[in-house]
Amino acid sequence: MSTKWTMITGASEGLGVEFARLAAAEGRDLILVARQVQKLERLADELRARHNVAIEVLPTDLSDPKAVEALWRRAEMRRHIDVLVNNAGLGYNGPFTGSEFNREMSSIMVNVTGLTILMKRAVAHMTRQGGGHILNVGSTAGFMPGPNMAVYHATKAYVLSLTEAVAEELRDSPVTVTVLCPGATATNFIKDAQMEDIALLKALPVASAKRVAKAGWTAMKKGKRIRVTGLLNKFFAVSPRFAPRALTTRITALFMK
Ligand SMILES: NC(=O)c1ccc[n+]([C@@H]2O[C@H](COP(=O)([O-])OP(=O)(O)OC[C@H]3O[C@@H](n4cnc5c(N)ncnc54)[C@H](OP(=O)(O)O)[C@@H]3O)[C@@H](O)[C@H]2O)c1
Repeated sequence: MSTKWTMITGASEGLGVEFARLAAAEGRDLILVARQVQKLERLADELRARHNVAIEVLPTDLSDPKAVEALWRRAEMRRHIDVLVNNAGLGYNGPFTGSEFNREMSSIMVNVTGLTILMKRAVAHMTRQGGGHILNVGSTAGFMPGPNMAVYHATKAYVLSLTEAVAEELRDSPVTVTVLCPGATATNFIKDAQMEDIALLKALPVASAKRVAKAGWTAMKKGKRIRVTGLLNKFFAVSPRFAPRALTTRITALFMK
């Protein structure tokens, strides 16, 4: 059994489940984090039965910074965590002038604050331990402002910027930081964020969670800085560089209807 641990947040659903399956298949011991404890326990049972790995389930509300700090303190006690997958996240599709204030605040607390606390603690821990990998799950949303999903796009722009900057700071360090930027992926996220009626999502193929997680996992292990999944998403990621920002924002608004 390995003595190095992998922490995966948002492991109760979607991409997080796939990251956990990939890690367990490599014989990695796992710390699974989310709020839905039954789903985490079910996944832990599945992975223990298939692979000879140790798994700890640490249910945590990542929108609470104190709970995030407590999670990390408990997780790193007597353990060497050499992989952190900062995957938990949520969004909300609706006008900024709408009434979903609490949900928007939660998305900032989870996507930005919680992710930053864990990344900060993990970089220090991994540096002390001699190395490690951090995978932050961003989005193609991070490459452009998103009218009607303004807060979510802003949180993912933060994740992208933070990851690139810290990766540069860590250039000569044995700790790597990668940001995975998927486009639409078949998970609960789309329904949860009330994005089901967006015309673009109906028109375009939606990637499988398994495939997206695999791409991110591979990029993380290679120490790549950014991994955008899918050809069309690469286009969406690159094209804003060649257009005035106001035009990019207008086009995104049309796509997001
Ligand atoms: N699906 C897409 O189209 C898509 C595209 C681009 C990027 N992404 C990003 O991919 C990541 C994973 O999302 P997904 O698609 O797998 O969505 P998902 O199926 O809805 O899963 C979201 C995960 O985040 C966890 N989470 C949400 N709020 C939390 C909180 N307050 N505390 C702890 N955990 C919390 C959920 O766990 P609990 O509910 O159990 O707490 C769940 O495990 C997110 O960062 C998302 O922004 C998704």
